[in-house]
Amino acid sequence: MCGIVGYIGHRDAAEIILKGLQRLEYRGYDSAGMAVINGQMDVLKVKGKVKELLKMTRKKKVHGSLGIGHTRWATHGEPNDVNAHPHMGAYRKFALVHNGIIENYDVLRQDLGQKGHHFAGDTDTEVLAHLIEEIHEMSDVDFTEAVRLALTQVEGTYGIAIVHKYHPDRIIVARKGSPLLIGIGDGEYFVASDASPVIEFTKKVVYLEDDEMAVISREGYEVSTLKNVPLTKEVHELAMNLEQIEKGGFPHFMLKEIFEQPDTIADCMRGRLIVDENRIQLGGLTGVEKRLASARRVIIAACGTSWHAGLVGEYLFEYLAHIPVEVEYASEFRYRETLINEQDVMLVISQSGETADTLAALRQARKRGAMVLGICNVVGSTIARETDAGVYTHAGPEIGVASTKAFTAQVTVLAMMAMMMGRYKKVLSDELMAELVRELNRVPSLVKMILRDTKKIEEVARLFTYAPNFLYLGRSYNFPVALEGALKLKEISYIHAEGYPAAEMKHGPIALIDEHMPVVVIAATDHTNDKMISNVEEVKARKGRIIAISSNGQSEVGKLAEFTITIPEIHDCLSPLVAVVPLQLLSYYIAVNRKCDVDQPRNLAKSVTVE
Ligand code: F6R
Repeated sequence: MCGIVGYIGHRDAAEIILKGLQRLEYRGYDSAGMAVINGQMDVLKVKGKVKELLKMTRKKKVHGSLGIGHTRWATHGEPNDVNAHPHMGAYRKFALVHNGIIENYDVLRQDLGQKGHHFAGDTDTEVLAHLIEEIHEMSDVDFTEAVRLALTQVEGTYGIAIVHKYHPDRIIVARKGSPLLIGIGDGEYFVASDASPVIEFTKKVVYLEDDEMAVISREGYEVSTLKNVPLTKEVHELAMNLEQIEKGGFPHFMLKEIFEQPDTIADCMRGRLIVDENRIQLGGLTGVEKRLASARRVIIAACGTSWHAGLVGEYLFEYLAHIPVEVEYASEFRYRETLINEQDVMLVISQSGETADTLAALRQARKRGAMVLGICNVVGSTIARETDAGVYTHAGPEIGVASTKAFTAQVTVLAMMAMMMGRYKKVLSDELMAELVRELNRVPSLVKMILRDTKKIEEVARLFTYAPNFLYLGRSYNFPVALEGALKLKEISYIHAEGYPAAEMKHGPIALIDEHMPVVVIAATDHTNDKMISNVEEVKARKGRIIAISSNGQSEVGKLAEFTITIPEIHDCLSPLVAVVPLQLLSYYIAVNRKCDVDQPRNLAKSVTVE
């Protein structure tokens, strides 16, 4: 949420920052800005996307070998030129970019106001800039120390980068609750809120931890705690490559990522699903099986799409491993008296590994003695680093704001975990295990079959492009898929959509059904199939327009539906992995028809690092 990039070295910082901001734009795109130092300090800020900043930079011919940039997702203060980052103090000597929220900004603002500070905009970040300025101008400390002292006064979260007009030899960075890394080049260094702007130049990175700051020059970097204790940091090697963060001929990242799923699901299972031996091997969980098996309950905490994956996980854990599971919105869990203790295990699920609420739930669970496991996509992310053990999804970078391949990879990991634990607890029979291993192994080719011919989905998308509402119905394993289908449609096409367990419909939502209402029914082969047919009859009786996502054997639902999108048959507990794919495509095609910005939908940002 918001993106930061910085550069110090011998190349043109403005070009590197612009390119970096374009790569980071999926994290926020309300406004953009940068500060570049070359004798003077040029500060450019503009409402809108990075392309506006690019135009402005070209026009003003801004160059220099030191600078910082920002792409914003507004929290405090509407998106406009003034509220765009970087922010400066009254003397305009330094520029600051910030991700996160300064929670005590109001108190600080009033205090600074009494000392004569005037604020141009409404952001919390501008208050921090003035606080640094106040400390620097009014006390006998150097600029770096002024930054450090200011940070000890702020409450909330931040990832910041600062450059100073009269110190053109350094970038100061600091982190608390908002990710930041330093990319190490040859006589040049990069700063970024995630690895995507850096990968083109170097694979060597240092991750800052909370309450750490660094001073980066052309000669090197020095990291210390906010209490001024020097630190030696481990240098990590990035696993991603440039190709993974480019569109590769697809019109949108989202479509590319949907089409990547046969590969990402296969990558997720590689070396873990041992088909010849009917075995699952999840190295990241070695040593924790006993505690997981004996847990009083597993609490899955996540947000959004990852929460939907968690719901599928609940069904899988209960069925295959006989482990009781509760699925929690991380944002609710963190403020509840959840009575979690050392007898429980928390499993957090997060694509980015940076979602603020999920991280807070994790920390709360740990504090109360629970073991915390993680399913994350981004290697080295905060959540991945703070869990006791976990499994990476290996889906590769997900750039499209609407999550797709991360969901199928998360469900794949959850299925493997449940199977592994079922065997460990000796509650999963040889026969069922063998069947599920075979079935899981087929998933990549089944998803490929769906992607091979998308004509029917495109046709349905065309017919319903301008529908104002959609209902999605599923039962059992596919109830979470109904929720996910509805979320995808809302996010990228701005059509109001609701997902429901099919049988719940008659407890209220059935009132919405008339001859205009498209109702997407997910009817994969399922032990609740007969019940589903009755639910579909109920929709039909009220003239709802039924779009069935139906596996080959589900002719009954097919007969009732106005449109049927066929998916291949698979064991019902794995059916979410195939059933979700047409729903991703349906929302994609509808959004494209409606000329929506698929990869950067309004008001959204990838990776929600604020509460
Ligand atoms: C939906 C979507 C969001 C995320 C949610 C959690 O398409 O992308 O709902 O799933 O913000 O993000 P992670 O998984 O990064 O914790």
